[in-house]
Amino acid sequence: MSDSVWWLQTERLALRRFVADDLDWLVQLYRDVEVARHLGGLLDRATVETMFRGRFLGYYDLHPGLGIWATLDRVTGELLGFHLLNNIQGESIIQLGYGLARSAWGRGLATEMAVALVRYGFEDLRLPRISGMAGLENLASQRVLLKSGLHRNGERAFPHPAYAAEGPMAWFERDRDAWLAEHAADARSVFDAHRR
Ligand SMILES: CC(C)(COP(=O)(O)OP(=O)(O)OC[C@H]1O[C@@H](n2cnc3c(N)ncnc32)[C@H](O)[C@@H]1OP(=O)(O)O)[C@@H](O)C(=O)NCCC(=O)NCCS
Repeated sequence: MSDSVWWLQTERLALRRFVADDLDWLVQLYRDVEVARHLGGLLDRATVETMFRGRFLGYYDLHPGLGIWATLDRVTGELLGFHLLNNIQGESIIQLGYGLARSAWGRGLATEMAVALVRYGFEDLRLPRISGMAGLENLASQRVLLKSGLHRNGERAFPHPAYAAEGPMAWFERDRDAWLAEHAADARSVFDAHRR
């Protein structure tokens, strides 16, 4: 695969846009109960396909810079999962999200790319705020949101059918100005360390 479609890369991972051929992979992901239970539940092929055409493939050109991207192993090119920056359905709020095949869990991969996406969202897209939500029992996802630089801010529920059944969810957010101030401080301390 050409590097040119890997539009964001980290030490171990790369993001590219989803393409029509990825549908079978996504259908399989939504057949794994351990993954799907945190993503709205097990979905049949027809439902996944409708979502894939709208929220995945059809979204990129309508919302430049945003979307749901395929998360790949940089060495093997294997499709491991997805990361996203998109609007919460029915809202204009921009959220960070992710889901990985079970074989990829437990190695810090979700966090690695989420950190890079937050940086991209604030520095390149200049988003004023990035939010995130996770089920109250989804402690792994809550941990990833925190490690990505978002802060916990209570709970929120959303009326859209995609989330309504979940009820209140753990809510996270971060404003660009606060994130930039923190990372400017990081940059200064690196500079100071080099001067010593
Ligand atoms: C959430 C998910 C993406 C995490 O992927 P991952 O690559 O394993 O995540 P990371 O390794 O980067 O970080 C996970 C963190 O959660 C912690 N964690 C994992 N399971 C946990 C649990 N049951 N309770 C508390 N913490 C837990 C890990 O220890 C790690 O934190 P640490 O680095 O401080 O030790 C993955 O589990 C997944 O795809 N789940 C199903 C889909 C999903 O939940 N998506 C999010 C919807 S809101």
